[in-house]
Amino acid sequence: MPSAGGVVIANRYYTAARLDTLKGGVLFARMPGTVLLRTERLTRAFGSLMAVDRVEVAIHKGELRSIIGPNGAGKTTFFRLISGEMTPTSGRIWFDERDITGLPQHVVARLGIAKSYQITNVFPHLSVHENVRVAAQGPARAFDFWSQADRLGDVRDRATTLLQTVGLAAKGDRLAAHLSHGEKRHLEIGIALASDPSLLLLDEPTAGMSPEETDETMRLIRALAVGRTVILVEHKMKVVMKISDRITVLHQGQVLAEGTPEEIRNNDRVQQTYLGAIR
Ligand SMILES: Nc1ncnc2c1ncn2[C@@H]1O[C@H](COP(=O)(O)OP(=O)(O)OP(=O)(O)O)[C@@H](O)[C@H]1O
Ligand SMILES: [Mg+2]
Repeated sequence: MPSAGGVVIANRYYTAARLDTLKGGVLFARMPGTVLLRTERLTRAFGSLMAVDRVEVAIHKGELRSIIGPNGAGKTTFFRLISGEMTPTSGRIWFDERDITGLPQHVVARLGIAKSYQITNVFPHLSVHENVRVAAQGPARAFDFWSQADRLGDVRDRATTLLQTVGLAAKGDRLAAHLSHGEKRHLEIGIALASDPSLLLLDEPTAGMSPEETDETMRLIRALAVGRTVILVEHKMKVVMKISDRITVLHQGQVLAEGTPEEIRNNDRVQQTYLGAIR
């Protein structure tokens, strides 16, 4: 039975001493609400390099969390661990109160985590609409002609709605190869949304975009974050400071700081190790 001084979080009991070391625990105390994703001492080593080093985060349902940090800080590796693309060396990942550590990527995806990556996953020789339709169709099922035929209309409608969401409704018939860079990134987000994920991971969605495209993508991310949980890896501070609820700063695989945009902007350690250097 829990003793005095501890608390129960997501059906687990934490001692007061453990809470002191658990950065996410501080967050629980400040922000009531349900935690959707939680990592416990999440670690990934490549030989002697600790790419992700005992990272503890707690992301609440509906939160828009940004992860920032210099090149090589471990941001993409962190995403790969969450999405099941890579297995952790140690530590645990909890999603919707379920331990998903080590589950394969397709299972994690089915549980509701989708990612849109730096590396493009668009089929260039399919139309924009077809790209989203293929994603909306989901994994192949046992052949059943009539239910498949019924589903096709639904899938088509869903694809059309998704294209409207990402601002590509007018370009559905165009070959994906003929989209601009910014439009391709929006299409990737549309593909990621096709599975209706409860958690969306976006890795540098504005990379290589013009200031105008960046503003548009920022608006899109804000709209997506309504009723959905989003974790955003982003280098552009203007974007991060404007749209995040909270920010986690990674440095050499470790959490250097966590807080609101205001707290991160005014954090001396963050200024010295990261923000100062990118001004
Ligand atoms: N598959 C791998 N094998 C070996 N080392 C790797 C592998 N993937 C990443 N690393 C190393 O792990 C560290 C973290 O890399 P990661 O790609 O996660 O950084 P990042 O924060 O996403 O950087 P960037 O901002 O440049 O995208 C880097 O030193 C990188 O070289
Ligand atoms: Mg990266």
